[in-house]
Amino acid sequence: MTSAVVLISGRGSNLRALVEARTGLEVRAVVSNRPGAEGLEWAEREGFATRVLDHRTFATREAFDAALAAEVESHAPDLVLLAGFMRIFTAAFIQRFPRRILNIHPSLLPSFPGLHTHRRVLEAGVKVHGATVHVVTPALDDGPIVIQGAVPVLQEDTEESLAERVLGVEHRIYPQAVRWFVEGRVDFGAGALVRVRGAGVGTDSMVSPRNPS
Ligand code: GRF
Repeated sequence: MTSAVVLISGRGSNLRALVEARTGLEVRAVVSNRPGAEGLEWAEREGFATRVLDHRTFATREAFDAALAAEVESHAPDLVLLAGFMRIFTAAFIQRFPRRILNIHPSLLPSFPGLHTHRRVLEAGVKVHGATVHVVTPALDDGPIVIQGAVPVLQEDTEESLAERVLGVEHRIYPQAVRWFVEGRVDFGAGALVRVRGAGVGTDSMVSPRNPS
């Protein structure tokens, strides 16, 4: 069985979507860098092992990442899933889990990396927006793309309405990506290429994998 530790910082709706989708993933622990994170309370109620590592109590980014890596490794997971985890990792952390850390980002990468994506999308006037599940590499919001989901940007959209529409996509594509890993169908090609065996271009506004076989 494929196992994971899920890292969160807040609401935890992606964690919840991952659990409720019944992908076959075994969630061994939920770790938050913020005490009192809403998602942590939900995970506790659901009976998951939870842990808080408050980044503010560590002197350096390196010290926090070392403690977090040790906590993650203590659960010996196959995957580390970032689900609204709002910390930037040191390269040292990422190198301890090569090709095993996945992130969900609320934009169609490589467009709009970083924060406040919905506001920036509206300001830029782009007409298509979405979300991306990618493998985490040392560069921020970079790394091989596993799946993307797209939504239209409507003329009457606000930051909030756009965020809500994109979140609906996030809740579909993250479980789908994880299911592919659970089923052992994900291959890494040259460069940033991810291939998913047996998957064509998806339905329900899902786009990717690139070069489906
Ligand atoms: C999501 O939009 C995710 O893409 C971003 O932060 C938000 C977290 O939401 N990185 P939640 O905590 O999963 O509800």
